[in-house]
Amino acid sequence: MQNNGQYKWRGGFCLEVNALPNTIVIFGASGDLTGRKLLPALYHLAKRGLLHERSRIIGCARTVMSDEEYRNYLLENWFSSVPEQEREPLNQFLKRVFYHHGNYSDGDFYSGLDRRLKTLEEGLNPEISGRIYYLAVPPVLCETVVRELSVAGLLEENQKGTPWRRVILEKPFGSDYQSALELDYSLHKYLQERQIYRIDHYLGKETVQNIMVLRFANLIFEPVWNAQYIDSVQITVAESVGVEHRAGYFDKTGLLRDMFQNHLLEMLSLVAMEIPSGSDAEAIRDEKLKLLKCIRPVQMEDVIRGQYENYCQEKGVAPESRTETYAAMKLYIDNWRWRGVPFYLRSGKKMRKKQSSISIHFKQIPHSVFLPVREEDLAPNVLTMNVQPEEGLSLTIQAKQPGPKLCIGSLNMDFKYASILEPGETIPDSYERLLLDCMLGDQTLFIRSDTILEAWKLLTPVLEYWQAHPETPLYSYAEGTRGPDAADRLPREKKTIWLEL
Ligand code: BG6
Repeated sequence: MQNNGQYKWRGGFCLEVNALPNTIVIFGASGDLTGRKLLPALYHLAKRGLLHERSRIIGCARTVMSDEEYRNYLLENWFSSVPEQEREPLNQFLKRVFYHHGNYSDGDFYSGLDRRLKTLEEGLNPEISGRIYYLAVPPVLCETVVRELSVAGLLEENQKGTPWRRVILEKPFGSDYQSALELDYSLHKYLQERQIYRIDHYLGKETVQNIMVLRFANLIFEPVWNAQYIDSVQITVAESVGVEHRAGYFDKTGLLRDMFQNHLLEMLSLVAMEIPSGSDAEAIRDEKLKLLKCIRPVQMEDVIRGQYENYCQEKGVAPESRTETYAAMKLYIDNWRWRGVPFYLRSGKKMRKKQSSISIHFKQIPHSVFLPVREEDLAPNVLTMNVQPEEGLSLTIQAKQPGPKLCIGSLNMDFKYASILEPGETIPDSYERLLLDCMLGDQTLFIRSDTILEAWKLLTPVLEYWQAHPETPLYSYAEGTRGPDAADRLPREKKTIWLEL
């Protein structure tokens, strides 16, 4: 969509970003995540001038390949759709990509890596330069890689934290409270918390980042952001795809661990947390933790689980699988701000469409002056933050319909980010933002260890209950729908319905 002039930026303050030279080492260089997300994100950062020209990328994997062969593999498999006019910048970028092969549990692999790193980093200033180790590998390998990096001295920083060494980890961070605790303990044997960047790609999404700006850079929202004015809050992450080629992982994991433990609870924290003392990582992460601690233990009758109809026929899924592909839940936050306000969360695979949103449902007005139109005839305001696919913000208000008579109806003010982009401009992918933040040493959008544990504390009892009570209903739902009808009873108690998909 072109900028039609309907919405315009006026003024604006940007925080300065200075890209510094560093090295990014990616473990799992031939995997899907690296090809689909990480290297394209680094390429886009390079195009935007946010990857320093002295920065280098080393991909690591088991397959024997030379640097040149790896570059060709990337070109053929992941960059084949880059238009002809971009070939030159792409080739320049790929010249900065190198490859190192070997076995992750073999000491020689790390001493070889050390030698290559020393050569590539020659002349860089250790006071400002550093290294990111991105672990795009299955979780079982994470501890081995971190331990071996440590044994080889590749994680060492001096007391000032220079030259810096940071490790990016992908979820899952454990599979329940106990396993997360153990994983955390083993990581902290080799790393300080300031070196660990646990990624939740939802935090890199534009609208999710905008939640804080909306709440804390405007005056009009915060005074009504509480139980006095808000009736309920809904958070939806619906996907139209199924488990695809990840059935092996998903069937053991289920939707609650895959989506709620991280993406949904992170969004909930940002929407509901108190005002932080500043915008630094610790101030924000402290507030998110405080919020999670206030969530009332989940009541089992407030949780609905479902499975799409043909799930058990998917390749890689156990024939009698009871794994949930949909979950909906009602949560309460026991603090002054949110006492009594239900938060309805839902997420599922193979639903009608891909849509992630957060909607704030305000209360009815206390009294109507437009009799015979009663207060209950006037639909309450709903503020919706659309996270994807069309990032934006919408607000439904009551307004007078043009005409000689007084007719009142709901009007939807709908803003889409795409409408303010210049031609050719795109919204950065979340991995771009998160990789950049890691290079800059900003942990704000990464999850802290105590927050992960708190989220597991909330969800582990639900997982244990399902394990102990396999007879708990697992509602079947047809593919391409809103999920099981059984979930409708959650918002119905507030005389409302799930936001339309
Ligand atoms: C991942 C989950 O974290 O998020 C996937 O593991 C899910 O199962 C994905 O499909 C959804 O991400 P997005 O950005 O496509 O909404």
